[in-house]
Amino acid sequence: MGGGSGLLWIGRALIVFQLINGVLGWGKEGHFAVCKIAEGYLTEDALAAIKELLPDSAEGDLANVCSWPDEIRFHLRWSSPLHYIDTPDFKCNYEYCRDCHDSAGRKDRCVTGAIYNYTMQLKSAYQNSVSEAKYNLTEALMFLSHFIGDVHQPLHVGFTGDLGGNSIIVRWFRRKTNLHHVWDNMIIESALKTFYSSNITNMIQTIQWNITDGWANDISSWESCKNNHTVCPEPYASESISLACKYAYKNATPGSTLKDDYFLSRLPIVEKRLAQGGIRLAATLNRIFASQIKIAEA
Ligand SMILES: *[C@@H]1O[C@H](CO)[C@@H](O)[C@H](O)[C@H]1NC(C)=O
Ligand SMILES: *[C@@H]1O[C@H](CO)[C@@H](O)[C@H](O)[C@H]1NC(C)=O
Ligand SMILES: *[C@@H]1O[C@H](CO)[C@@H](O)[C@H](O)[C@H]1NC(C)=O
Ligand SMILES: *[C@@H]1O[C@H](CO)[C@@H](O)[C@H](O)[C@H]1NC(C)=O
Ligand SMILES: *[C@@H]1O[C@H](CO)[C@@H](O)[C@H](O)[C@H]1NC(C)=O
Ligand SMILES: [Zn+2]
Repeated sequence: MGGGSGLLWIGRALIVFQLINGVLGWGKEGHFAVCKIAEGYLTEDALAAIKELLPDSAEGDLANVCSWPDEIRFHLRWSSPLHYIDTPDFKCNYEYCRDCHDSAGRKDRCVTGAIYNYTMQLKSAYQNSVSEAKYNLTEALMFLSHFIGDVHQPLHVGFTGDLGGNSIIVRWFRRKTNLHHVWDNMIIESALKTFYSSNITNMIQTIQWNITDGWANDISSWESCKNNHTVCPEPYASESISLACKYAYKNATPGSTLKDDYFLSRLPIVEKRLAQGGIRLAATLNRIFASQIKIAEA
């Protein structure tokens, strides 16, 4: 390869990198944190099932592949609408029937629809151990783990008109970016630099302390689903659009500069959403991979 084409390649890689950073769910750090937190709450049965399903690239750790759906989303374009939900502008609520479709109107093609889809794939495979797996369950596990993270990012259940904040151009301190990216990446990145010595493990540990201390009384309500359902993304999506209106869109109009006031008041929201995403991912995986045992015992 000549020097010219080498430079061209670097240029294209940079553009792709910027595109990826512009439109995706929680950034790499956010998804890593959600899955790391979940790992601490998995049952032995779930841990064993997950270990069997993980690809080699995970090196035995679910958190290493929780961003996989973002990495393949430009290859597998059909999966792109599955990362978010667009709701009507300024309504600040979410309804599955009204909102869960892609921009062409195809039903169920949104993040809550995808969560039901991949839960069903895993659960039915683990209940009917005789039948051949119809789906790639490794992919189902990686999609589900990623999308339970995404549905907790408030602007993944944002307004249709601004593409979940993607078209709201703001400054994050001195840097020009968009509001969606602020919530995917910038708040977490600034927190890492400011409070956690740029070390994601420190941040996860601090969130874990809160889970076992300040939020201890909330955990069972975070974990539970109404009517013994295996998975329940509806309330998570409703919480997200409500937080989007109350915190994300508030004081973040196009052209505004977001600084310490916004950063310090929104960071606790982000950290709590990472905690809830992790706890709920673990609870869902525990229910999916427990069904086999219950049937065997029945
Ligand atoms: C369900 O999963 C399959 C396999 O990945 C995929 O082809 C399909 O588009 C998914 N549908 C939804 C609504 O997530
Ligand atoms: C399932 O998906 C993973 C990840 O995309 C891939 O590496 C693997 O080859 C697939 N397995 C089958 C049986 O297609
Ligand atoms: C990050 O912090 C953890 C402990 O919180 C420590 O074990 C680890 O070595 C640190 N990583 C780096 C790259 O400094
Ligand atoms: C949920 O499941 C538990 C144990 O399987 C059962 O005791 C309880 O009655 C169920 N609750 C509902 C609302 O179905
Ligand atoms: C821990 O919980 C307190 C009280 O809810 C909150 O103010 C703080 O931001 C939380 N810290 C982290 C790292 O989650
Ligand atoms: Zn995503």
